[in-house]
Amino acid sequence: MKRVALYALSLLLGVEALTTTITDIQGTSFQSPLAGQFVYGVIGVVTAKDRYGVWIQGDRSDDPRASSGLRLYGGAATRFTNVGDLVSVSGRVAEYRSSANDLLLTEIDYITSIVSKSSGHTVQPLVLGVDRIPPNNQLSSLDVGRDGWLSIPNNITLLENINATLSPDEFGLDFWESLEGQLVTVKSPTAANFPDRFGSVWVYGDWPATGKNARGGLTIHTDGPDELPPAHPEAILIGRPLDATRNPKPVMGAKLSDITGIVTYQYGAYYILPLTAPEIIEYPDFGVPPSSLNSTSHACELRIGDYNVENMSPRSHHIPKIAAHVAQHLHTPDILFVQEIQDDSGARNDGTVSANKTLRALADAIKKASGGVEYDFINVEPEDNKDGGQPGGNIRVAYLWRPEKVSLVAGTIGGATTSTEAVIDNDGNVEFTYNPGRIDPTHAAWEEARKPLAAAWQTVSGDRFYTVNVHFSSKRDSSSAQGDARPPVNGGSERRMSQANVTATFVDSILALSSSASVIVAGDMNEYAATRAVLRPLQALLHDANDVADVPPAERYTYAYDQHAQEIDHIFVSDAIAKRGGEVEHVHVNTWARSIGERASDHDPTVARLWVCDADVKDGTEGPAVELGADHGQVVL
Ligand SMILES: *[C@@H]1O[C@H](CO)[C@@H](O)[C@H](O)[C@H]1NC(C)=O
Ligand SMILES: *[C@@H]1O[C@H](CO)[C@@H](O)[C@H](O)[C@H]1NC(C)=O
Ligand SMILES: *[C@@H]1O[C@H](CO)[C@@H](O)[C@H](O)[C@H]1NC(C)=O
Ligand SMILES: *[C@@H]1O[C@H](CO)[C@@H](O)[C@H](O)[C@H]1NC(C)=O
Ligand SMILES: *[C@@H]1O[C@H](CO)[C@@H](O)[C@H](O)[C@H]1NC(C)=O
Repeated sequence: MKRVALYALSLLLGVEALTTTITDIQGTSFQSPLAGQFVYGVIGVVTAKDRYGVWIQGDRSDDPRASSGLRLYGGAATRFTNVGDLVSVSGRVAEYRSSANDLLLTEIDYITSIVSKSSGHTVQPLVLGVDRIPPNNQLSSLDVGRDGWLSIPNNITLLENINATLSPDEFGLDFWESLEGQLVTVKSPTAANFPDRFGSVWVYGDWPATGKNARGGLTIHTDGPDELPPAHPEAILIGRPLDATRNPKPVMGAKLSDITGIVTYQYGAYYILPLTAPEIIEYPDFGVPPSSLNSTSHACELRIGDYNVENMSPRSHHIPKIAAHVAQHLHTPDILFVQEIQDDSGARNDGTVSANKTLRALADAIKKASGGVEYDFINVEPEDNKDGGQPGGNIRVAYLWRPEKVSLVAGTIGGATTSTEAVIDNDGNVEFTYNPGRIDPTHAAWEEARKPLAAAWQTVSGDRFYTVNVHFSSKRDSSSAQGDARPPVNGGSERRMSQANVTATFVDSILALSSSASVIVAGDMNEYAATRAVLRPLQALLHDANDVADVPPAERYTYAYDQHAQEIDHIFVSDAIAKRGGEVEHVHVNTWARSIGERASDHDPTVARLWVCDADVKDGTEGPAVELGADHGQVVL
């Protein structure tokens, strides 16, 4: 096979003066300077074909902003050319998208003439990581605001309306746009997640990545108050292979064989369409280490588990798996905060709101899996179909706890619409008017959303502490991070901001009565700590337990979505708890599963070992309230 210097060929053909080059068509901004115009004698080698058209590659420019690849759309291109043909094409330049929020793809959409001059040419792909290196922080110069691509307000500009000159060294969308239509190679790719539902796979290659965790995923995190959270533009979707082979089904951290394909934009994101499917050459270790945070014998040192158990009903097949996680991987924490407990009839929309059978089934399964550990449980029944989630399922948050370790402060359980308040009891301690009780359940923030459940507890040493279990509104209706709206739309963010505010206002009311109260707020917040605009009310008042425990930023994840490992389940603690120190482990039983189907839930559980009261008994009495076991280490004050 001969390789051709295309410019030489165009000279040979004597068409230089009349022709437009591909780089002229692509230009140096998002949209073609020639959009809508007819061009003549565009020269390129056919690099790939699909059912609807072909891609051609022309001479590379010295200007990295101007792509030398181009899509030719239509039957004329597929019928009259083969891969390896040197073609001369005339037609109309167009900017195409199939959905409103997509970015535009430059193509020749109306071919007036296409001629194959010769065949058998090969095109050397650009080697990403060598010839061109993707930026690894932000997506677009238009993502202005303190949280970068996660900033709020969002959708303040449309990228295609601005049509900026590309800055491919700095911004991810600009980088991939500058490669549009080109043949590229990704050497030694690593998968960042399971495949999506269309079989596409997010990968990054052998180049610098931000927030890389020990598994090989890319975590959304911030390294400090002034750091922008990374959008991971260094990862790219690998779409359906062009030769009808099928992509494998990798997992976070799986190593793939080299991928060569065409850069394009479709379905709201940049993709590489591989010429042929890669193979998985190495899987990560599927053993998930159990938590190292075992029970200690001090009454004040408790293990708090948090787990979104994904639409659990009494008949859910995943109950034994979740129970095994609680028993074997979390070592039966003293209190479990769970979210997504459905009512006793599951998704059947029959007016049932009690979840006693669901919770009983979970507690029984844990007892079985753990060889006898018994949990009590409690929840507040919602009004039928008022809390969002799967219709008829009535998901809610609930607590399970080990009665030999903790108990609820005696009180009256609240109802669906009654709001619990923090008050001082006769002995001068903080208690709740309903225990447990919902926080401001009729507030507009909770319309069609799960209400938080507050509880006042006491340890066997008689010390009190307080918890709030939350499940904030989801990110449904978010726009693609690689779409037209900049910054991208963060679905439900206003809602979550207001929910964080109402939750923080309640915690504030406890701390106003007792500034040294031990308070834990945990649950599925459907938001990253890096989206400071949303979680600020909680962050301003409380401490992220990860910070207390010094969990490395990249290891803070409980979920995987698109190319991101991400923490959307959080534990926040009050000053009193933070200053006693603590430990936190995110146990990756689900993000590290062998396949999506093998997961028990879409979330990983977290376990924290925290001091909910001081090791010293009150009234100045020396020594811990409970005998320390022989294996008990140092008491942290
Ligand atoms: C986009 O920018 C290029 C380069 O400045 C310009 O030639 C082209 O007309 C612009 N397109 C639109 C639709 O503004
Ligand atoms: C962004 O805002 C524009 C109006 O400026 C609107 O037309 C568009 O639908 C919005 N995009 C998204 C994804 O919500
Ligand atoms: C925690 O306890 C389990 C048994 O419940 C045991 O297998 C494991 O080794 C313990 N881990 C540590 C770090 O002590
Ligand atoms: C569920 O359990 C609670 C607490 O034991 C009880 O008060 C309530 O009546 C039960 N609901 C149903 C429908 O059995
Ligand atoms: C909640 O929002 C209100 C109104 O914006 C504000 O005044 C208040 O400080 C916020 N409370 C918390 C705890 O963030």
